[in-house]
Amino acid sequence: MQAAVKTAETYYDSHDADRFYALIWGGEDIHVGLYEAGDSPIREASRKTVAHMASRLTGLKPGARVLDLGAGYGGAARYLAREHGAHVTCLNLSGVENARNTQLTAEQGLSDLIMIDHGAFEDLGYPDASFDIVWSQDAFLHSADRERVLKNAARVLKPGGEIIFTDPMQADIVDDPAALQPVYDRIHLSSLGSFAFYRRTLQALGLEDAGCEAMTGQLRTHYARVREELLTRRGELKGEVSEAYVERMLDGLTNWVKAADEGLLAWGIIHYRKPG
Ligand SMILES: C[S@@+](CC[C@H](N)C(=O)[O-])C[C@H]1O[C@@H](n2cnc3c(N)ncnc32)[C@H](O)[C@@H]1O
Repeated sequence: MQAAVKTAETYYDSHDADRFYALIWGGEDIHVGLYEAGDSPIREASRKTVAHMASRLTGLKPGARVLDLGAGYGGAARYLAREHGAHVTCLNLSGVENARNTQLTAEQGLSDLIMIDHGAFEDLGYPDASFDIVWSQDAFLHSADRERVLKNAARVLKPGGEIIFTDPMQADIVDDPAALQPVYDRIHLSSLGSFAFYRRTLQALGLEDAGCEAMTGQLRTHYARVREELLTRRGELKGEVSEAYVERMLDGLTNWVKAADEGLLAWGIIHYRKPG
């Protein structure tokens, strides 16, 4: 197993990370939200990202086969299944998250539409041309081999199928890459993708641009909002999340907000289509 895959698995399986994301992020989603006002609840803003991404997809019809790469607690999968009748396969590395996904999916009566697989998105075992949509939210940042992830994603897409994802990225041009080190340190990363990298890679794989949206301001708002929530509700986390984790997370979030203000980061939606 690649070191980055093991690092991500250990991190997301840890009690601290699981409790932090469940309690502060809202319990279903772990991704950047869409905010109209900076003080919207994190859970509500996070749901908006899912709904907005879904609204872009032309192939999202009842019975559509969707693959969610790095599915976390499965919030998006349940939305796509419940609201659109999609059949969603969640592929995710964290056994702890998959267990919660299984439980929430059963509680919401969606087990017939959602399958949960344990595994790494660098090694997709699904047959060629088996999905109408490949979906991912804020997960590719963890990979040490994003080209391989996209190559596999393109392989499993049916002709005419769509890939849509968000990712916290670095800006296309960063003069001093060392300035990103504090950003990498928050969740043990070794690099970040960029809009330019993803567009170049998807184009080289023969996919067609279906429209990308840069919304870096939302990343800045989201991390500032999570930091504020963590400070306000710190007392509630006592006994659930270690002090050391909370301190490290507060520092990390401060660094991400600072890097966003300095123009070092990017975030948004990348949407491509496999020629049909
Ligand atoms: C920030 S969370 C996002 C979770 C989910 N997409 C969401 O938006 O709620 C990143 C997710 O990527 C998963 N992940 C990280 N590296 C992975 C890999 N190599 N293969 C599969 N999943 C991975 C983690 O387990 C975690 O659930």
